[in-house]
Amino acid sequence: AQNERESLFIVLNYAKNYFQHNLLETDEGKSIAYPYFKERGFSDKTIKSFELGYSLESWDAFTKEALKQGYSPDILQKAGLTIVREQNTSPAEQGNEDSRNTRTFDRFRNRVIFPIHNVSGKVIAFGARILKTDKNQPKYLNSPETEVYHKSSILYGIYQAKNEIRTKDVCYLVEGYTDVVSLHQAGIHNVVASSGTSLTLEQIRLIARFTQNITVLYDGDAAGIKASLRGMDMILEEGLNVKLVVFPEGEDPDSYVQKIGSEAFVKHIEQNASDFITFKAELSLKEAGNDPFKRAEIIKDMVESISKIPDSIKRSVFFQKTASLMNIDENLLILESNKIQLNRVKQK
Ligand code: UTP
Ligand code: MN
Ligand code: MN
Ligand code: MN
Ligand code: MN
Repeated sequence: AQNERESLFIVLNYAKNYFQHNLLETDEGKSIAYPYFKERGFSDKTIKSFELGYSLESWDAFTKEALKQGYSPDILQKAGLTIVREQNTSPAEQGNEDSRNTRTFDRFRNRVIFPIHNVSGKVIAFGARILKTDKNQPKYLNSPETEVYHKSSILYGIYQAKNEIRTKDVCYLVEGYTDVVSLHQAGIHNVVASSGTSLTLEQIRLIARFTQNITVLYDGDAAGIKASLRGMDMILEEGLNVKLVVFPEGEDPDSYVQKIGSEAFVKHIEQNASDFITFKAELSLKEAGNDPFKRAEIIKDMVESISKIPDSIKRSVFFQKTASLMNIDENLLILESNKIQLNRVKQK
């Protein structure tokens, strides 16, 4: 199995070089993919440091080249780089065993490529974006789970970000590949992406190797806010500190930093990073107004979140804060929290 992992790293690294070559050295790459990155504001330095690439508009250009180089069909498939399908047969041939042959083709076709690195910098997978919006195709295609790629335990950008996360003692968590790349280019290097999947405990523990502080910078849309709320509770439960920044509707960290520049972006984060309790209070109060029943629900929800914090002193600080924000007796909140924790113990 160790051998197979090594073979996978080798073929994935080969593919990464191949995609980079397509982007920078072929006519097709130079005429459509490179200009795509340029239009998005990515510099040559950025393209190089994230090892961005391009997969040609062809069913099997990569497969053919890789086979020629001596990589086996089996390892290409195990690396998630090729797809093997049964070939369609004509009606006349159906039922004839001999006509049931398979066809191997490239998983990534006509897309710009974002290699995904593990903590030590080895390429383990790819994310691939279409160049133009097409409602019949997913915007991003990602490598499948493989022996070296476990989606739920990796964060995009961790290799490029880890030192800076430790130095700055905070990790910015974004949704997408381009958010990581753009922020990095803007001089903000302590940033990783959950890549659209909902945040997992393993991902939080990966960040915890470098810092105890996470600031969530998800997209400024309903989905982003919902994902932030869920992520926040998980981060609290792991005992880490979490803050949150909301972006204007329709903006994500990539679009926003490209729009306002890095200095203003950093200022936006500094001025708008709220702790989770303030965030919940503001968000919910907007909806609830003065409805007392709704307010009660919100308070209970805040207590639920606080109850997840393992550290009792931190819990106490947030009870005080909730009490003053929501204008309610702190002791009531503590009573309610004790009930919740008792129930949790019973459920175990
Ligand atoms: P977004 O839809 O916010 O994309 O999804 P984005 O990163 O802002 O991409 P651009 O700016 O349009 O290029 C956030 C992340 O969710 C994952 C990707 O990791 C993406 O970066 N995703 C999204 C997918 O895996 N598949 C999809 O079809 C869409
Ligand atoms: Mn860096
Ligand atoms: Mn989004
Ligand atoms: Mn975007
Ligand atoms: Mn986005």
